[in-house]
Amino acid sequence: MAGLRRLEYRGYDSAGVAVLADGGLAAARKAGKLVNLEKELAARPLPSGTTGIGHTRWATHGGPTDANAHPHLDNAGQVAVVHNGIIENFAGLRAELAERGHELRSETDTEVVAHLLAEEFSATADLAEAMRLVCRRLEGAFTLVAAHAGEPDVVVGARRNSPLVVGVGEGEAFLASDVAAFIAHTRSAIELGQDQVVELRRDGVTVTGFDGRPAEVRSYHVDWDASAAEKGGYDYFMLKEIAEQPKAVADTLLGRIDASGALTLDEVRIPASELREVDKVVIVACGTAFHAGLIAKYAIEHWTRIPCEVELASEFRYRDPILDSRSLVIAISQSGETMDTLMALRHAREQGSKVLAICNTNGSTIPRESDAVLYTHAGPEVAVASTKAFLTQLVACYLVALYLGQVRGTKWGDEIRAVVRDLAQISGAVERVLETMGPVRELARSLADKDTVLFLGRHVGYPVALEGALKLKELAYMHAEGFAAGELKHGPIALIEEDLPVVVVVPSPRGRSVLHDKIVSNIQEIRARGARTIVIAEEGDETVVPYADHLVRIPVTPVLLSPLVATVPLQVFACELATARGNEVDQPRNLAKSVTVE
Ligand code: AGP
Repeated sequence: MAGLRRLEYRGYDSAGVAVLADGGLAAARKAGKLVNLEKELAARPLPSGTTGIGHTRWATHGGPTDANAHPHLDNAGQVAVVHNGIIENFAGLRAELAERGHELRSETDTEVVAHLLAEEFSATADLAEAMRLVCRRLEGAFTLVAAHAGEPDVVVGARRNSPLVVGVGEGEAFLASDVAAFIAHTRSAIELGQDQVVELRRDGVTVTGFDGRPAEVRSYHVDWDASAAEKGGYDYFMLKEIAEQPKAVADTLLGRIDASGALTLDEVRIPASELREVDKVVIVACGTAFHAGLIAKYAIEHWTRIPCEVELASEFRYRDPILDSRSLVIAISQSGETMDTLMALRHAREQGSKVLAICNTNGSTIPRESDAVLYTHAGPEVAVASTKAFLTQLVACYLVALYLGQVRGTKWGDEIRAVVRDLAQISGAVERVLETMGPVRELARSLADKDTVLFLGRHVGYPVALEGALKLKELAYMHAEGFAAGELKHGPIALIEEDLPVVVVVPSPRGRSVLHDKIVSNIQEIRARGARTIVIAEEGDETVVPYADHLVRIPVTPVLLSPLVATVPLQVFACELATARGNEVDQPRNLAKSVTVE
């Protein structure tokens, strides 16, 4: 339980434990926060044992209910399994198991593993071998940990694309998603590699590949203290979450593209026939989520030719919007609890519009009150300033735009597959950006005493400028403002003065080159008036070099997808500048992670 408490920040939709004792397996699990499980165990204690597994859940498939809580057991209650990640081929496995007489009792993808392990164990009587056989049938990202009544002093784990680390103590061993869970017991850890199975016994740890061959592993000493461990060794959750963006983007794509490369957004439970009737899309959101909506507008209109409005949720219903059954309202919210956005979607539904939620929190109010939902799989975002949630909101918006194009026939299959291939490259592109942020951090620290920073952008770069300004406002408590670069000469250029830092998000010259030329002129205009220009431009764009006091390179990316890489330096810039000012980065003053008041 102490271990689970240390991991609770990673997900708190439900929790559960299973213990091997008295020759059998006993389990308890409860929806909601860990305290609910603790109350359950106080009321109905499990038999005491020294071998067991536990889980705190961040729901992906199936809402946060007791039935969906991990661990999941087979029908005979002999094997228990907990899981992080997404098993993409679970639907087919569920169907096979049901045909073989298994009774599946949850909505989760995880449960199929319990039944498959039970089948394999009955043939092998060896849980590690059973796990290897099962893992070879799974597709997607998963960390699995299991225990079986037939092997009372064994725990077995497996990982693919999802974290799992081993703690090696004196006569004891641990498995966890994060060292925070066992750092109070041991600092000796083993890092597991891709597609590996680990077997923990009283006398030691064995690691093999899914093929059974012994695997090379790296042992290391954990030198973090327990509280740092919860942040994965980072000083702030925000830094950890910025670093998690490549994985968050990749995870949000998982399970949404079928073998033929077509989109299968099965949570979008609005019939294709109704989507074909949609004649207007209205996006409602707040803050960073609103900026995601502004970017989504460019993709939706370009790929589907449906008019798309983007509205601040707090303004939406007071302007008496024109809505009907052919309006599709998209509510974007990380927390799923933002009252402004909730009230906006309620208003839309009262007008007879269908509402699709894009949300990062399974089972929260906004998806529950929507007609359909597309979950982002960013994992829990703890820092108030939204980073990985924003990037995954963009990915989800692109998927919705492509899906609308797919069902309405405005995008051919090969065009959709081409964009999906581009999206699949983004994770690596973001990784590359993160590896080159040293100069951005240094620049941010050098500007810590400035009063104002302006942000300029054009096309999809304009909402990126707004987002960069918001990050700086909410983290560094500094006046920051984003403008459409073309708007500068209509007033804001009066703000330019000697050495005023201005961040310019430059569109790719490969897109509409006229846009690129115009923003280069804008850079010259502000530089001529003394601005210090901080230019975000793609690799190979040499035109901007003479006018950039500071040049930040981003990977070449398709024009509409470029916000996914252009935003990252602005997140790092704001976080570093706030740190240089000694601000509390994870909980900025006056703010809350979820604004549940209007
Ligand atoms: C962004 O960094 C802020 N935390 C804030 O603007 C946030 O995006 C906004 O409150 C919306 O929250 P939601 O996505 O949970 O609805």
